[in-house]
Formats: sequence, structure tokens, C-alpha cells
Amino acid sequence: MILKLLLGCLALFLGQTNARMTTEPDIIDLRFTEENGNCSVSVISPSKIRGELRLEGFDLESGETIDGGVTKSGSMVVPHDKAKAVRWTASFTDKKTGQSISKSFIPKYILTPAAPKSPRYNGPSVFGVRPGSPIILRLAFSGERPMSFSVEGLPEGAVIDAREGILGGKVSVPGDYNLTLVAENEFGTCRQPFTLRVGPKIALTPPMGWNSWNCWGLTVSQEKVISSASAILLKGLADYGYNYINIDDSWEADTRNADGSISANDKFPDMKGLGDWLHGHGLRMGIYSSPGDRTCGNYLGSLGHEKQDMETFNSWGVDYLKYDWCGYSREFDKNPDKSIASFVRPYLKMEEFLRAQPRDIFYSLCQYSTAEVWKWGHAVDANSWRTTSDIRDTWAFLYDIGFVQQAPLYPYSQPGHWNDPDMLVVGQLGWGAHLRDSRLTVDEQYTHISLWCLLAANLLIGCDVSRMDDFTVALLCNNEVLAIDQDPLGKQARPVIVDGDIQIWSRPLSDGGTAIGVFNLSEEVRKVDIGRYLEQLSLSGTVRDLWRQKDIAPGSYWIAPHGVRMLKIK
Ligand code: GAL
Repeated sequence: MILKLLLGCLALFLGQTNARMTTEPDIIDLRFTEENGNCSVSVISPSKIRGELRLEGFDLESGETIDGGVTKSGSMVVPHDKAKAVRWTASFTDKKTGQSISKSFIPKYILTPAAPKSPRYNGPSVFGVRPGSPIILRLAFSGERPMSFSVEGLPEGAVIDAREGILGGKVSVPGDYNLTLVAENEFGTCRQPFTLRVGPKIALTPPMGWNSWNCWGLTVSQEKVISSASAILLKGLADYGYNYINIDDSWEADTRNADGSISANDKFPDMKGLGDWLHGHGLRMGIYSSPGDRTCGNYLGSLGHEKQDMETFNSWGVDYLKYDWCGYSREFDKNPDKSIASFVRPYLKMEEFLRAQPRDIFYSLCQYSTAEVWKWGHAVDANSWRTTSDIRDTWAFLYDIGFVQQAPLYPYSQPGHWNDPDMLVVGQLGWGAHLRDSRLTVDEQYTHISLWCLLAANLLIGCDVSRMDDFTVALLCNNEVLAIDQDPLGKQARPVIVDGDIQIWSRPLSDGGTAIGVFNLSEEVRKVDIGRYLEQLSLSGTVRDLWRQKDIAPGSYWIAPHGVRMLKIK
């Protein structure tokens, strides 16, 4: 009876229907699942099938194989250690036919070493503010709280909140102020040289923060914004410089007010209150609009109300405007003039009102790269411009947007004006009410963040931060990796070696060093002779592995499929 029951359970298990065609024997698949840090593998088949499931690991650091065991039960736990990159291959052999299938999977592994308990500065070494504009800068120090903060050399008008570490106030006299940021807790003191540059330029390093689109799409609400902003503070992402909190499309009311002004819909009951709350935590507020009469999501756009809308945004405390072409197409089509000037016009118009506001507003152009925006974006004083259409969380998008489309654009990025290859697609995403894990593999995610940092790209987290797991926090909070994105020289990387599926991207850094990304674009694990490539590039010196935060010998290293080694040579 018991045997019958057991067989029944096995048949039930083996009878799951969501199989897909793979190799022989027909309609059997192997599926790895990873949830809450636990990983397992199962045989999926629509019919009753018996055989042996075997698991073998390949340690990507040492190159050693690991015996993961064997079972006849149709599923097994993957013995996974989060600190190790191991490629597990499961093989199932059908008892009746002797035929087998196999599949490989790399569970999430964390490379970023834990931050010390003592204060450590993780932000950029320079910050630009216009004379007289409010400074809103949460100093990016990690370490145990409570922590106290002070600033040496603070110019007149600037103030520091000693408890929260928020630099505020206004400085009216232009100039470079060389400060020392000081953070102290029971474990130690950190002193960080820092330049406050009061002048015409803002965004001297690429913006970092969060945007609602890739997670919530048109279902975003004030509550959801606050939930991710709170998590940015609580999970320590603000201690690494993530400070813009950007509301994307669907905040707008259905109709304008009698005086023509715009207001928010019911999902955002108090925009000014939200702005004040963000500023109180040293975070900045971002908003979305369109030069058209409607936005991409068919909400109200700013056409004909540009000045009024900018004034409203200013009154809410907006620090970032994403200005999305989309609905402007109808206006554009009315005019037979298709010269560059007609692409520039709506952005130039908004620029006038945006820069007239008594606060610094990051101007983000979103027109998916039409009319080679990188050639004129700086002329409308844009702080960044989208260089692509919308990103999605697949390797095809990452490869095309990241590697193919950005390769020729390196000459156009510079402090104050950045190429924007779109927002990050790691963590829980969904573009709507239902969120799910990013579909990128763990190594594709390392590649994504490495490449975006090498590209000096905007780093706008696109996921629900309140549901962010430890892996994603560690992925987004590696201070040595982020330092490449935030390097004040602001030079975007370019591909310097393309050797089949191996690509080397490189960018010069302000301290004389060079950042390198060694990417394996193939579907296979590859042993890559990094030393040989460095020689080819005439690069010598200490080789620092930025993800692992340790110096390494310039030898050969295993790189996972679609994976990366990110290095600094100094
Ligand atoms: C698209 C834009 C997206 C998002 C969306 C909102 O045009 O590229 O990033 O802002 O509109 O409707």
C-alpha cells in the first residue's frame, strides 16, 4: 500500500505539464529553481519516467569539479554556497532508453565583500551645484549607525546635518571648495577629501537612484514610491550614492486645473509632501513628463504648458525631469520640417524654463536616440539622453543595447552630459502590478552592472527596492565597482579588443589608472588569458579585481557564460 502511494506521488511529480521540448528522450526537461537562497533541480516530464539524476559542479574560481550526488527521486537540492561561483550541471539518464539530457545553472553568488563596520566613504569625490541653488546631498558613508558627521572647510551658506550626514544650504559664490568630509562611529573615523564645485554645471558624475517604471509601470503610486525610497535608506543603498527617487509616467491627473496648471491624480495625494519627505532624508525627487500633449502612457503632457509645469514641479521640489518624446510625435508629424532643429525644438523650449527655476534640476532627455541625440544633447543643456529604446531583462536586450549600441558613443559622454543606455533590470521587475525576478542570469547581472559602470551610465535601479534580496543589494553596492561609474574624469569605456566572443572594454580614470571589463559573450565557460590581453594593451601595474576587491596575478581566469571580470590596472 505504502509502495503504491509512493509510486503514485512519483508519477504525480513526474507528471507536471509545463515541460518544453529539449533533446531526446522527448518532452523531458530539467528545471533549476532558486528561491530564498535555496536552489534545487527537478526532472520535468508529462508522463511517467524513471531514471537517474546526477549533479556535478564546476568551481569557477578553482576550476575544480564538485560531486553533487545522484538520485532516482527526480529532484535534488543543489548544495550551494552563496560565496562561491559554481556552475552546476544536472544530467538525467532515462532508465528505459539509456538516453540522457543535461542542463547547467549558476545559482546567485555574492562577490562584494561585506562593508566594514567603521565609516567608509562610497560616493564621488566631486559634486556640482549652481550658485544659490539648494544643496541636497546625503553623504554616502557606509558603516554602523549611529554615526556623526562634520565637514571641514564648509563655505558660507552650506550646512551639514551632523546626525544624518546631509549637506544642505546654498552657496552663492562660485568656485571649487576643497572640503574634508568626516564620519565617525564607535569603530573609527573616515576623512574624505571632496570638492564642492559651485558653478554652472551639475551632474558632474552620472546620476544614481531609482525609477518606478521597470517595476511598477503605470501602477506606480505615492505609497510605492515611499516604500522603495524607504528601502533605499534602510537597506543602505543611499550609503552608496543612490539618491534620486524618480516617479515615471502615470502620476498625472486626467485634466488640467481651470488656470491650466497640472496636478497629480489620486495615486499621489501629496506631491509637495513627498518632495519634502525625500529632501528631509537627503534624497532628491524626480518626475516624468512629455513635450507632447499626452505622455507615452496617455496621461497629460506638457505641450503648451511648459513654463507652468516647470513652475509646478519646482513648487513640489522636483530635482530631476525625464522628458519623454512619445506623445510629441503627433505634433512633430504636423510639421514638414524634419531637420535636426525640429527634433531639438521641444527640448530647447523646456530647457529655458527648467534652468530658470531656483533649484538644480537634472534634465533627462528620453527620445530613444533619434536624430543622433548624443551630438546635440549638450546643446540643450541635457544632463543625459537616452541612447536606446526601452530595455528589457533579457540577454538579447542587454547585448544589443549595452555592447552593440553603446560601442560608438564613447566620445559624447562627459561630466554634466551623459549617454543613458536606460535603467537597470536587476531585482524584482514587472512593468506593472505583478513583479517577478529579473530574467537575466546571475552572470548577466554582473555584466549589466559592470558594463553600465564602465559606460559612465545613469544608474537608476528599476526594481522594487523593498523586495530586494541580499544578492541584488551586494550587486548594486560594491564601492570599487561604483567608483568606476562615478569617476570624475567621466570618460566612457569603449571596446579595445574584440577576440571572437571575448570583448575587452576599457576607460581611463582620473587617478591615472585604467578600468577594464573582460566579457565572455559566449554560451560557454571560458578560461581567459587576461595577462595576454593586458600585454596586448600595453597595460602593466597592479591588477585589481573590482568585484572581489583584491589584487590578482595577471594570469588566466575562468569566466562564466555571458560573465565578466572587472579590473582596474594601476
Ligand atoms: C517610454 C519610456 C519609458 C517610460 C514610458 C512611460 O517612452 O521610454 O522609459 O518612461 O515611456 O510611459
